[in-house]
Amino acid sequence: MIKIMVFGAKSYDIESFDLKLQNYSDVQMNYIESELDQYTAYLAKGYDAVCVFVNCNLNREIIEILKKLEIKLILLRCAGFNNVDIRACQENDITVMRVPSYSPEAVAEMAMSLALSVNRRIHKAYIKVRENNFSLVSLTGVNFYKKVAGIIGTGKIGQAMARICQGFGMEVIAFDKYPSNSLPFVKYVTLEELLKQSDLISLHCPLNDETYHLINEKTISIMKDGVILVNTSRGGLIKTEDLIKGIRDKKFFGVALDVYEEEGDYVFENLEDDILEHSTAARLLSFPNVIVTSHQGFLTKEALEAISLTTIENAISFFNNKPIIENIVNQ
Ligand code: NAI
Repeated sequence: MIKIMVFGAKSYDIESFDLKLQNYSDVQMNYIESELDQYTAYLAKGYDAVCVFVNCNLNREIIEILKKLEIKLILLRCAGFNNVDIRACQENDITVMRVPSYSPEAVAEMAMSLALSVNRRIHKAYIKVRENNFSLVSLTGVNFYKKVAGIIGTGKIGQAMARICQGFGMEVIAFDKYPSNSLPFVKYVTLEELLKQSDLISLHCPLNDETYHLINEKTISIMKDGVILVNTSRGGLIKTEDLIKGIRDKKFFGVALDVYEEEGDYVFENLEDDILEHSTAARLLSFPNVIVTSHQGFLTKEALEAISLTTIENAISFFNNKPIIENIVNQ
């Protein structure tokens, strides 16, 4: 029996894992709502593997505790692994496996939902009508049809977003270090050209040393006035202070963020009765042309199913000494 302790487990994770586990008699998963940290790590004693999500900060201290508990495998139920100290895992002989692709369309559809919502001020319209305010003042949007969509990062999600934008009758341009040849309708340009020409900019590149704060005062200044900016990738791609300055300077028609710096403190939690201690999220939420969601790009039924299946298969393949090589992060 393979025993896995699932940390940070929410009701939707448990439902989807339990459904899949009906088909596996040799895997046992136990769930705990708390995140994996230096205190909760000890709860993994007696397990073979731990399973965590994107918001878990897997630092060296936690990894060394896991090593002492003889944990062999960390199962990331997400694609990104910028939250894991990979070197510490290597040094402690702990393998990290991920779900490289579960549903690019889920995230791309969320990116377009955010773009449309902020453009047509759906977030305001919804509240207004509930208050019997049927006035249309301040709800004017722009057509996407015939406008320019700029996609930064044309991997799996960026490609899905490019296709959606094409479906809207937009001209699609893109910037990627490694352009794809599977998007014949997309024109690749430099980052500067993309920033200059785009009416809608959607970020789909990973967060790394090169892309950290890719959107900053300088790059914002190159953008068209009245641009719509959408980030469903990683918060660190945008320097929030500079973004807030740009919003104050009325550079943007709209900004929609599924991810943002500092989200780690709040994301996936219900803080209804709390006063937010840090000001970034609160400041972003104070602007009428900004929508913030809580890292829900992945959250569709299909994506959850794919995440559960791949995570279970990752564990089985690893403990049967036939690991799915392409899902290993620290080869
Ligand atoms: P992918 O690996 O298929 O594509 C990333 C693309 O970015 C590649 O084409 C790569 O060449 C390009 N790239 C890398 N460095 C670059 C640079 N310096 N400049 C421009 N392009 C660069 O990744 P995928 O699956 O499309 O995911 C993209 C991102 O979406 C992930 O890194 C993750 O951060 C985020 N994501 C967000 C989710 C959410 O719930 N909001 C869920 C899943 C992923």
